[in-house]
Amino acid sequence: MKRCNTITELRRTLREWKQNHPGGSIGFVPTMGFLHEGHESLIRRAADEHQLIVVSIFVNPLQFGPNEDFERYPRDPERDAKLAEKAGTDILFMPSVEEMYPRPVLTKVMISGLTDKLCGASRPGHFDGVGTVVSKLFHLVQPDAAYFGQKDAQQVAVIERMVEDLNIPVKIVACPIVREPDGLAMSSRNVYLSPEERTQAVALYQSLQQAEQWFADPDLTAGEIRQRMSELIRRSPLAEIDYVEILTFPDLEDSRQDIPLGDLPPGFRYIAALAVKFGATRLIDNRIYTVKGR
Ligand code: PAF
Repeated sequence: MKRCNTITELRRTLREWKQNHPGGSIGFVPTMGFLHEGHESLIRRAADEHQLIVVSIFVNPLQFGPNEDFERYPRDPERDAKLAEKAGTDILFMPSVEEMYPRPVLTKVMISGLTDKLCGASRPGHFDGVGTVVSKLFHLVQPDAAYFGQKDAQQVAVIERMVEDLNIPVKIVACPIVREPDGLAMSSRNVYLSPEERTQAVALYQSLQQAEQWFADPDLTAGEIRQRMSELIRRSPLAEIDYVEILTFPDLEDSRQDIPLGDLPPGFRYIAALAVKFGATRLIDNRIYTVKGR
């Protein structure tokens, strides 16, 4: 595995590889590091489908709000490098903030509509930061496909739309959420949780699991299920709900909240998306449900 810390080095390495592998395809996994099994699954999937695997590790200041955890976001580049290599990475791009943003950023990618809800509403400017850095990374790496975790379902939707709107020639591959044995979705932020918070954090998964049964009931509405999920999460005393939303999928519309599920066309899909704080740690999770009809 080759490590590149500068854009010049990355571009030179990619150019040489392309000269030696005409027609070879590139799979790309952008990350903010502190890699876990979720990232590993993305790298392995990319390695199954492409000849050259590029992974980036960059904690992107542009996507953190002023009171968010940019400074304390967990970082462990040496451990990350070992894990990335073991999972099948060929090129590890680890630029500094100065390398990515040598001057104040005057040009941003802003994706509207899809970003005024869920994490976009709770974290103003977050998706402008994501869109901007992902677009820069796509320009630098020029991959054939890029791999993202479905845990950040809104991020996947936003990036898919950006790629479509800007005709960026990259296939976006959304990969399944990887979970701890008790169901908690893997996240670099899980390390912030105290033992008690960690125990209670399973409430997100439990509510998504329980909702499977509720979504099978043709007489319930999305609005009622949302209410029940919130109540279930509130039973964990340390949980502070940021949002519990049930939106149509894949459009992420806040419509069809009051229609009994049995009156919707079979195959209609909703996504339940959750953001819940435990102390200072904000966790997200989601699941997609398909309505079965009466
Ligand atoms: O999902 C992440 O880790 C980040 O939002 C991403 C896509 C690497 C952009 O910084």
